[in-house]
Amino acid sequence: MRVIGMISGTSFDAIEAVAVDLALEGDTLVADLRAHVSAAYPPDVHAAIAASLPPAATTIEAVCKLDTAIGKRFAEVADELGGSAFDGETDVICSHGQTVYHWVEGAQALGTLQLGQPAFIAERTGATVVADVRARDVAAGGHGAPLASLLDVLLLGASPDRVRGSLNLGGISNVTVVGPDRAPLAYDIGPANALVDAVVAAETGGAEIFDTGGARAGRGTVDPELLAVFLDEPYYALAPPKSTGKELFHLGYVREHVDGRRISSDDLVATLTALSAETVARDLRRLRVADVVAAGGGTRNPTLMNELARRLPGVPIETFDVFGIPEACKEALVFAIIGFLTVHRLPATVPSCTGSRRASVLGSVVPGERRLRVQDGAVAPSSLTVRTPVRS
Ligand SMILES: Nc1ncnc2c1ncn2[C@@H]1O[C@H](COP(=O)(O)OP(=O)(O)O)[C@@H](O)[C@H]1O
Ligand SMILES: [Mg+2]
Repeated sequence: MRVIGMISGTSFDAIEAVAVDLALEGDTLVADLRAHVSAAYPPDVHAAIAASLPPAATTIEAVCKLDTAIGKRFAEVADELGGSAFDGETDVICSHGQTVYHWVEGAQALGTLQLGQPAFIAERTGATVVADVRARDVAAGGHGAPLASLLDVLLLGASPDRVRGSLNLGGISNVTVVGPDRAPLAYDIGPANALVDAVVAAETGGAEIFDTGGARAGRGTVDPELLAVFLDEPYYALAPPKSTGKELFHLGYVREHVDGRRISSDDLVATLTALSAETVARDLRRLRVADVVAAGGGTRNPTLMNELARRLPGVPIETFDVFGIPEACKEALVFAIIGFLTVHRLPATVPSCTGSRRASVLGSVVPGERRLRVQDGAVAPSSLTVRTPVRS
């Protein structure tokens, strides 16, 4: 089945989309990666998202306009990718859209909202579209996150001979941990890039949106006292499963914690980078993770990766490329797999990971103009095989 998976993460730096041929061979899901694109939002849409995210106030009018603009941009990206990878004959497109609010109280997720009206994608491409993929897991008592835990468990195995971690360093850091004699576990750890991005964007008036190559953090010096203040965050002490987002970790949060201290911008970025590394490392040590495979934009920040490696001696950290999955398209592949499972009426969550009462078939389905043929007698996969190569 010709499937496109697509997401713009909490950093809204780009829409990541992957075209993949998926087929079930018994209980093995075989993924033939065809192409990956990383497509930016037009500047006006990017600015409108930035202006609407919490803690900013917004209007229903702005929400409607954003839903439309994001949906149209996703439709354009899907149409182009489907044209080049599948000659325009894409069967299924699973769109995560853009998270604009993830409603969490304590350790409970109560609601979640992703924008990017899927009707525009179905109308433009003729494909069956699966969208709104987090809501069902929240309705089943889960966090609706991290949904990547499904792919992690399929790839690493539910019960390998050693404790293994899959780490994602996006706006937020999240981890999936699998190992012998324990159910797989997954949760959001804390801010990976969100706070650094917020400070850099504020410092440069939006001209730069992240600390390219970790250069600022590399020049700066960590302020241990301020780091300790940040580490005091009650979210870190909550037991998993748990999820968080930019509703908590935003520029105002940094300013409150800096609380009038005099600190240079490079030192602040260095301290926030150390915070990201420290929160991840101490959780991975506590969980006794033996090795780590990582994905997400944070893997392209050498200062962050060095800070992490220094805190995890003897724990090899590789990227998803070792599985033939370019790290930048891992999350998009997650949504392609979810779309495939949904149209086969197969569940796509791991309840011990999202905290839900049961595994759910995810998403809302928007029928496409082209008739969709699904495999009869498909069974839920227990492993994933990835074929290469993929063009990025
Ligand atoms: N070359 C780079 N140097 C430093 N940081 C980077 C680089 N490329 C990406 N990043 C960081 O990764 C973030 C995007 O990562 P991504 O995995 O797409 O997160 P999300 O899922 O939240 O969109 C950027 O906002 C930035 O902080
Ligand atoms: Mg991104």
